[in-house]
Amino acid sequence: MATALLDFSRCRPRLRLAEPDTHHSSRGISAVALTLEGLHADSLGAVGGSLARSGVLIFAGYASERRSVSGENPSEHERPPNRSTSNPPDNPLRSTPMAKSFHVTTFGCQMNVHDSERMRGMLASLGYDEAESRDRADLILFNTCSIRESADSRFIAHLGEAKRLKSEDPERVVGVGGCWAQSVKEEVFQRFPFVDVAFGPGQIHKLAEFLNSDSLSAQGYFEFEDFSGHLPTRREREFQGWLQISQGCNCVCSYCIVPSTRGREVSRDPEELILEAEALAADGVREVTLLGQNVNSYGRELPKDRRISFAELLARVDAIEGIERIRYTSPHPKDMNEDVIRAHAGLPALCEQIHLPLQSGSSAVLKRMRRTYNRQRYMDRVALIREHVPDCAITTDIIVGFPGETEADFTETLEVAEEVGYDGAFTFIFSPRRETEAAAMEGQLPHPVKVERMERLLEIVQRRAKERAQRFVGRTLEVLVEGTSRTDETKLRGRTRHGKAVNFEGVAAPGEFVEVEIEAATSQTLSGVSVKPLSQLL
Ligand code: 5AD
Ligand code: SF4
Repeated sequence: MATALLDFSRCRPRLRLAEPDTHHSSRGISAVALTLEGLHADSLGAVGGSLARSGVLIFAGYASERRSVSGENPSEHERPPNRSTSNPPDNPLRSTPMAKSFHVTTFGCQMNVHDSERMRGMLASLGYDEAESRDRADLILFNTCSIRESADSRFIAHLGEAKRLKSEDPERVVGVGGCWAQSVKEEVFQRFPFVDVAFGPGQIHKLAEFLNSDSLSAQGYFEFEDFSGHLPTRREREFQGWLQISQGCNCVCSYCIVPSTRGREVSRDPEELILEAEALAADGVREVTLLGQNVNSYGRELPKDRRISFAELLARVDAIEGIERIRYTSPHPKDMNEDVIRAHAGLPALCEQIHLPLQSGSSAVLKRMRRTYNRQRYMDRVALIREHVPDCAITTDIIVGFPGETEADFTETLEVAEEVGYDGAFTFIFSPRRETEAAAMEGQLPHPVKVERMERLLEIVQRRAKERAQRFVGRTLEVLVEGTSRTDETKLRGRTRHGKAVNFEGVAAPGEFVEVEIEAATSQTLSGVSVKPLSQLL
């Protein structure tokens, strides 16, 4: 087991009381967590396909997430929280008086899923047990997202339950972390006075500081200080792990709130990353996903003597014994250089799957989005991928109804979707986000127009994905087993190197590689029969 040290020496006391803050209103949050419905996220988002927890690429906006990276840890720096949060005797459902318990609900992208794993690991190291449901938890946490507005109401409903539980037992602690918390900052305390602690994505470790403090005042922590890489984590599946290679984003996409919630891009030191990847491998991780808001711009701001390119980083991880699959999310088409594409052809562990967010097929719209590529340059990238890795699965993100999008612009998006034939796509209705350039643009489209366009896009995306998936029928593919099928308990479920979910008949344990003969394919899932666990073939 890998051991991670919970280093409280980094936790400088910096307690702030909630201050009145009158501007801002609440905003988008995305889907779920823990028992994920996932939604996937921003520049981060997508690939979901690969490690998506919900297993399938969903062609209508909401997609998936997942987890990873583990650790154990007790260190002598740790001590149990000293707030008096022991369980009241009148609530037999709560955990034993000795152990405190927590419950986390995660909204948003893979980065958030990963951050929640850090929270889990950190809380475990503080002596907390994970509760099955909120009503059994002493500490109720939400790890929030702000990428789109649509899920606000869902988050608020969840928060409503926390309010009720807190009124039943005022000793319960309610915490709100993540991008939404970061975007509203102290306003969270005005809007939701029952919240005890709020923290941004770079402030997870501050949760421990809060729990260890005696303060009963609401506290907010919103200044990015450090990666959470040194925090322990608790992986959801022991054989799959995350490796967060960078934080923040230097792009200025006019629709996106992320740069304001996660800050400027900061890459982690390559040697530190390799050590972490080796520790994951030693701990049983066979599939690792490199994580960042813009993974393929990795390393550019590192000092020259430490700098390596994203392609070089992939090669270093590929060389680690035990890592049999590598994925990454999310790349930007502008940084999808030939060396990265060639790496997919040359590195045995790097999977045949590339997420290439399109956003729009219209060069005019792309310009207003400040994406820095046009339709032609995007299609050149696709051509290069097809040239070097012909069987590569290509997935994407598309925004429908960007301000000023004309019917002709939208037709161009449809043309690109038709031409590329994506293996999967995350499609989103444009959602104006606070303080983004696009929110203030003229030409905001009526909702029904956006919905109608979305329907037309989905038809093409699904039809092309189904057509593309037929190439797998009759082939025998390597599948990493993840568990039981969600729809049929007699079947197993896993994922191919292309990131396709497969339901199949056979006998195998989670974490095992099996060969599955593919018999049928829909736009989202493959089905088949396992031939033999690969271990028996070796
Ligand atoms: N409205 C709609 N979709 C958005 N995305 C990011 N910001 C917005 C927004 N304001 C989408 C992009 C991104 C994905 C994760 O979320 O397609 O790639
Ligand atoms: Fe992830 Fe935050 Fe972006 Fe949501 S807004 S997708 S949580 S980075």
